[in-house]
Amino acid sequence: MVKVIINNKEVFVSKDASVLEACASIGLEIPKFCYHQKLNIAGNCRMCLVEISKSPKPVASCSYPVINNLQIYTDTPLVKKARENILEFLLINHPLDCPICDQGGECDLQEQTQTFGSDKSRFLHFKRVVENKNVGPLIKTVMTRCIHCTKCVRFFSEISGSKDFGTIQRGKYTEISTYILKNVSNELSANVIDLCPVGALTSKPYAFLARPWELKAFNTIDLCDGVGSNLKVQLKDCEIVRVLPRLCEGVNEEWITDKTRFNFDSIKTCKIGHPLLKCSTSLTKISWKKAFLEINNFFFEENKEVHIVLSYLLDLSVLQKFKLLSNCLGKCLTFFPRKFLLNVDIIENFSFGAFEDLEKADTILTIGTNTRFEAPAINLRLKKRFSKGLCHSAICGNLFDLSFKIDKKGISSTTLFDIAEGKHSFCKLLRRSVYPVIIFNASVCERSDFFAIYKLMLQIECFLKNMSVNWRVLRLLSQEANQTGNFFLGFGLNKNFFKKQQNLNTFFCGMFKKEFLTRHPSTKNIFCFGTYQNTSLETKLILPSNHPYETGGCYMNTTCAIQKSEPFFMSQGFFRNKENLLNLLLTQQSFLTTPIQMFQTYDEKMRNSSKITFLRLKCFLGKSLISKTIFRQFFSDFYLADAISENSFTMAICSKTYRKTFTNFHNYS
Ligand code: SF4
Ligand code: FES
Repeated sequence: MVKVIINNKEVFVSKDASVLEACASIGLEIPKFCYHQKLNIAGNCRMCLVEISKSPKPVASCSYPVINNLQIYTDTPLVKKARENILEFLLINHPLDCPICDQGGECDLQEQTQTFGSDKSRFLHFKRVVENKNVGPLIKTVMTRCIHCTKCVRFFSEISGSKDFGTIQRGKYTEISTYILKNVSNELSANVIDLCPVGALTSKPYAFLARPWELKAFNTIDLCDGVGSNLKVQLKDCEIVRVLPRLCEGVNEEWITDKTRFNFDSIKTCKIGHPLLKCSTSLTKISWKKAFLEINNFFFEENKEVHIVLSYLLDLSVLQKFKLLSNCLGKCLTFFPRKFLLNVDIIENFSFGAFEDLEKADTILTIGTNTRFEAPAINLRLKKRFSKGLCHSAICGNLFDLSFKIDKKGISSTTLFDIAEGKHSFCKLLRRSVYPVIIFNASVCERSDFFAIYKLMLQIECFLKNMSVNWRVLRLLSQEANQTGNFFLGFGLNKNFFKKQQNLNTFFCGMFKKEFLTRHPSTKNIFCFGTYQNTSLETKLILPSNHPYETGGCYMNTTCAIQKSEPFFMSQGFFRNKENLLNLLLTQQSFLTTPIQMFQTYDEKMRNSSKITFLRLKCFLGKSLISKTIFRQFFSDFYLADAISENSFTMAICSKTYRKTFTNFHNYS
């Protein structure tokens, strides 16, 4: 720690801090444009000037390190004049088009000009104009507004790793550009919209839709993957217009994927407004009263076996109610639409462990897993580690562009066999490793030779002699939103369901991928409680319910952390909340005496994954022979990979755009 004196007040700060960070530590906000805590220091906007002792000129506080007994002054007449002059320079070429700018009301330049700027300009000549660039369907550019803070350039080169943006030309002709005009093809590209301090980069789908003061915000959780990024959903007049990331260091830091940010339009598409009952060949509207009688008969008729198929997008409270219903009925099987062979009775088997662990990892082996598309938050941490030169990474399976260098060790499980036997060159690195990590995904758990693969992984774990005590090597990455929550509640899979069977009584609940619905067995008595796309089934009764984003609830992410999303209701029509309907069913049959949220009891206990005590038990392993089949990719199209996104219009455009141009997605497909 070092002592600094800020505006005549003594403060102790870390010796690695900058003057700007020292001021921030006592709540003193220094105006800035180009500084961002997750990016390298550029020091090019000069807005953060402060005066320090023994310096004749003001200095840029973001790039000036603290030293012992440094005296810092942040509100002297010189500092105020310097800020005013910097703003005058920035506004020389910045258009005064705030009334038609989407950044208006949340623009750093607008706010700081109001606070520190002058009320007149001395520049009476022509302004510089820069041509706008078409960089794809998500980011709108008005490049004349750019103040060259280079945050977007640094984001692409340091965080996403795709180097899509750069500066071209010099002096007053400097421009931010994609060099050769092209679409930015990175799955994290839209984060530059949040980073841009002015209206140069804004959201295309949000263009001219709303002003920030008209919006109501709700905190929610992303349901596209197992990471569970923290989100802020903004509504205007009961309609979602924008999704922004919420800062959560342990999960998504402050980045989200373009899919998470823009797939919300799937909520609006083709919803069913009323319960529908099949009469002869067509579906007719019925009242909820009649629909409820049908459900009662469906579940509680004598000698009838019922199959309940649950989506991964259901929250934990609903799942627990289904568990209660299925236990009470006794003749009811409840399961999920995946063939998952790993024993999920032990929490260690299905929990990934804390994401922060990856920032220690020194050797990483991924098995058939594309961390970049399946869990971008994990990939960013691996990339961070790799760019510091602190880890070796290798992949067993198809070689993907993970935005950092990774060695391909083979495409099938025979390579794993060589590693486990100590015959492979990678073994040397693994043996020396203190924090080794082996990442595998659900597709690996679905392979017929999974038990053999898992045994090989355990064998590899055994020869890691230098490994730190209490370090977890094997980490299963769940790609679906609440997959870990389902395992936690002990739901399994009914393998027989996938065999062709006639006349099953099946109740589908939640949203499913179309791919699953098209390969369901041919059955006649199907009830659906979910959103629109379930109409593709030969359904007897369809019950409309809210979209998973609207209902809120608790979800468990791949690290076993429980996160809550707030409910907000924007649906128009006769929708019913799944949990309320289940409460009613259970209460009517006296299975549930008081309709309470049972899941709240786990809430505090499981909120933080680091508090979980992992059982050091080996799971039960069945017998299987190793096969030479290559590790299959989990999905072929990042933008249409989950039940929510595949119904989104914006995601369909993205999918089409990025398959047309030369991108990673093109190579990947
Ligand atoms: S486009 Fe925005 S983020 Fe990029 S350099 Fe210009 S002002 Fe900065
Ligand atoms: S914030 Fe310090 S120079 Fe830009």
